[in-house]
Amino acid sequence: MKIKNVCCFGSGLIGTGWATNFLMAGLDVTLYDLSEDLFPHAEKRIRDNFAFLVKAEVYTPAQVEIFMKNFTMTSDVSKALKSADFVQESGPEKLEIKQEMAKIIDANCRVDTIVASSTSGFLISDIAARAKRPERFVGAHPYNPVFLLPLVEMTRSDVTDEGKLQQAYDFYMEIGKEPIILRKEALGFISNRIQMAVYREALDLLDRGVCSMDEIDRAVVYGPGLRWGLLGHFAVFHLTGGDEGLAGNVRKYSDAQEMWWRDMADWKKYPDGLKEKLTPMMDEALALRDERHGRTNEEIIAFRDQGLVLLLKYHGKL
Ligand SMILES: NC(=O)c1ccc[n+]([C@@H]2O[C@H](COP(=O)([O-])OP(=O)(O)OC[C@H]3O[C@@H](n4cnc5c(N)ncnc54)[C@H](O)[C@@H]3O)[C@@H](O)[C@H]2O)c1
Repeated sequence: MKIKNVCCFGSGLIGTGWATNFLMAGLDVTLYDLSEDLFPHAEKRIRDNFAFLVKAEVYTPAQVEIFMKNFTMTSDVSKALKSADFVQESGPEKLEIKQEMAKIIDANCRVDTIVASSTSGFLISDIAARAKRPERFVGAHPYNPVFLLPLVEMTRSDVTDEGKLQQAYDFYMEIGKEPIILRKEALGFISNRIQMAVYREALDLLDRGVCSMDEIDRAVVYGPGLRWGLLGHFAVFHLTGGDEGLAGNVRKYSDAQEMWWRDMADWKKYPDGLKEKLTPMMDEALALRDERHGRTNEEIIAFRDQGLVLLLKYHGKL
């Protein structure tokens, strides 16, 4: 089945991000949500995404108008789903609602339609528990902003049809995403686990008084962060091992690494009193930010997204 018609189920931040992404791939996109009152805001988000991409010289205004001809919105569930080849569900992260949505989607689309959930953490087997055809459901966790960040972490349940999973994987590849199918279940999937490990250590450095929030963020941005946009952890450490590669890293540095690990944070809940200190520290860190990097949320997002476009062009993803 060639996927041409996509239904984005849920028109929030992630639903509109996916809709932008699918439109960029030249697909027919129907955005569904419960009420038409939500549509002006949803359409504005998509148009804002495209306005940004025009400003970043990824598309011309004429190309965007061609994409937008393939876009419709509806609050009529059967209309939204009846011709969908692929459904990307991006409703609220509440299991009860996800299960209800799965049941409705399953009952209203064709038997061969693939249903992907953007869930950040629920098991796809739980989400599809009330659906008659749970085998067509896959987990497909994107990264925000969805229309820029290529990663999709994919999950299956015990009953997921391997053919459907592969079709979903191939589809994401075709539209320029970078899907990764998890071989086993892992809470938080791959990248949130890695982010959370780094976040815990950053919080611990704050708590120990080693440095300020602004200094930690600068240490990341001007050091490993610049590399992380280009190389993953293993490639980074492979290079530190010289001609021996990763084995050289282990030979030369494993004693030091183990010494650091013994000293590093391994707590399972926030240390007492830390949560309360974060907002004043964040205010201070924001005030110290270079003006060019932005201080308000809007400014920081603009700075981030302009930089992401440059990196994505370098990666050949835009
Ligand atoms: N926000 C993120 O950074 C992020 C990143 C990756 C994945 N996700 C996941 O994506 C999903 C959506 O997140 P979001 O941030 O866009 O949420 P959101 O709250 O912005 O949007 C949810 C949308 O779902 C709609 N909705 C509510 N009930 C519905 C129903 N029964 N049927 C159809 N639509 C319904 C709401 O009206 C709303 O427009 C969640 O599962 C979330 O965990 C979020």
